Amino acid sequence: MDVIHSVTELRARLAREPNNVVVPTMGNLHEGHVKLVDNAKPRGACTVVSIFVNRMQFGPKEDFEKYPRTFLADCEKLKAAGCNVVFAPTEQEIYPEPQTFAVEPPEIQHILDGAVRPGHFRGVATVVLKLFNMVQPKAAIFGKKDYQQCIVLRNMVRQLALPIEIILAETVRAEDGLALSSRNGYLSASERKEAPQLFKVLTAARDEVAAGKRDYQRIELESMARLAGRGWKPDYIAIRRQSDLQEPDLNDRDLVIVAAARLGVTRLIDNLELSIR
Ligand code: PAJ
Repeated sequence: MDVIHSVTELRARLAREPNNVVVPTMGNLHEGHVKLVDNAKPRGACTVVSIFVNRMQFGPKEDFEKYPRTFLADCEKLKAAGCNVVFAPTEQEIYPEPQTFAVEPPEIQHILDGAVRPGHFRGVATVVLKLFNMVQPKAAIFGKKDYQQCIVLRNMVRQLALPIEIILAETVRAEDGLALSSRNGYLSASERKEAPQLFKVLTAARDEVAAGKRDYQRIELESMARLAGRGWKPDYIAIRRQSDLQEPDLNDRDLVIVAAARLGVTRLIDNLELSIR
């Protein structure tokens, strides 16, 4: 496994690898990230994992400074997973000058997570486009855990005609249902015990819709109240269309329930897909 820090070195290493598949990450890798690498392996001759904590997608009051950085442990995990190239650029390498050009996603960047994190998806789309230009992959893999991010990036690739296949991988969870996340490390022991409630509430909401209930707003409000009653501060729980995360009408069959809520100082997100048949 090669560990590369500069774009020049990366281009030289990948010059004869037209079939590379990239897995963009911010490091502090867990089983969910490793699963993305497992998905990449059979698809390309060369699996590239990028590790870059992207300041541009963090708000001024968010956790950029304290975001966990565990580079050596990450490399061990990637080596064991069969990754071929780790691309771990410095900030100077990605942003050698102020980033005055940016990818401005459409309206979707302002709803749900975007409403709580202004500028977040603009920062994500911009850095991912830059990573794509640096790596020039034939495919890229993202986790459905970050559902809105998946939709933004899939639409970016389609509308900007990038010759890159976007592959979406299922969310990897702990045994108690909690979606794995780098931010789970912020939870205290008692919060960690409480955290699977987010998945439980999502599951209950999904079961109601699957059982034929169509009063989505009631389900959303009751789900949020359930979490709030346990001491959470929900940002949103919303039943949306999978394709564009807009509010569904009664003909829409492919739905996703997206949620974000704070438990203490930790903000957790999760979602569940659901198809009405
Ligand atoms: P990061 O949060 O490190 O996540 C990297 C990738 O891992 C994303 O595609 C994310 O959806 C996926 N992932 C995280 N937890 C997962 C889980 N439990 N199961 C499956 N996949 C999971 O997302 C980012 O970084 C950044 O926004 C990035 C795309 C790298 C741009 O900076």
